[in-house]
Amino acid sequence: MRAAQLFNGRGTTSASPIGPTNHDAVPHATGASATDASSKDGESSKAKELLGIHHLITQYGNIQAIKGISIYIDKGEIVALIGANGAGKSTTLLSVSGVLTPTSGTIRFNGQNISGLPSHQIVRQGIAQVVEGRAILAGLTVLENLMLGAYIRSDRNAIEQDMDRMFDRFPRLRERSGQIAGTLSGGEQQMLAIARALMSRPKMLLLDEPSMGLAPLIVEEIFNLLRELNEQGLTILLVEQNAAQALEIADRAYVLASGTIVRSGSSSSLLADEHLREAYLGAAR
Ligand SMILES: Nc1ncnc2c1ncn2[C@@H]1O[C@H](COP(=O)(O)OP(=O)(O)O)[C@@H](O)[C@H]1O
Ligand SMILES: [Mg+2]
Repeated sequence: MRAAQLFNGRGTTSASPIGPTNHDAVPHATGASATDASSKDGESSKAKELLGIHHLITQYGNIQAIKGISIYIDKGEIVALIGANGAGKSTTLLSVSGVLTPTSGTIRFNGQNISGLPSHQIVRQGIAQVVEGRAILAGLTVLENLMLGAYIRSDRNAIEQDMDRMFDRFPRLRERSGQIAGTLSGGEQQMLAIARALMSRPKMLLLDEPSMGLAPLIVEEIFNLLRELNEQGLTILLVEQNAAQALEIADRAYVLASGTIVRSGSSSSLLADEHLREAYLGAAR
């Protein structure tokens, strides 16, 4: 049995994708070209760009954690942001999701300038975040956590349908829908955090170290899920310390060190880079 079946009872054949469904699904390249990122290095063409970060600086007090980085992500891509502990990965994601207010620079999403918007408005624009450490509400039930993910929506019937599809995708969450979320296993909590983020019907999902603290089989399952969501049209920005594994599912990646982008390129070119392997992939291989 494939590990993915633990959560996804229907394997990859699930008829109704959850996430970027129906009206707000983004067009996605089909077949093999979806992961053929070898020509995607360099500048984004504006027509395809979903997220564009330009010269972003974010500070904690007087300390610059992010020192003027530029990153773009095209519709339909999985892009990884990798780097050592303290490099500024979480700060970057929190700047995009509006939890932190950048000091300067611009963040454009889907053609709109979102820099400085409060986080609830950024969720409305179509960005959902799974924060570091999962951050499910441990004292609430599984169902209540999922409902919270839909808080920006008022389309009751559609929310119920999405909830149903979410439970089809995650049968374990259906079984445990009335259970207090804090009593779930680490893997189940991570799945719940992802499911909750999908309930806002995002165009783009930001994930901060989803593999952290989880057993290898569960990590594999989560990465399979991300790949599947991406195939159904969801654009993904994945932050990972587990660089080798992130590069396996990403089209492209940026390497962050001390608040600066030090390398970027297709996953295959980064995996082939001797220096990078020594500096960032050594521990993970
Ligand atoms: N709340 C905070 N207050 C002050 N400094 C912080 C805070 N959060 C992170 N930092 C600092 O900002 C830098 C980047 O941190 P972070 O974005 O969390 O890195 P990463 O996610 O790559 O491990 C680190 O030097 C860290 O110590
Ligand atoms: Mg972090």
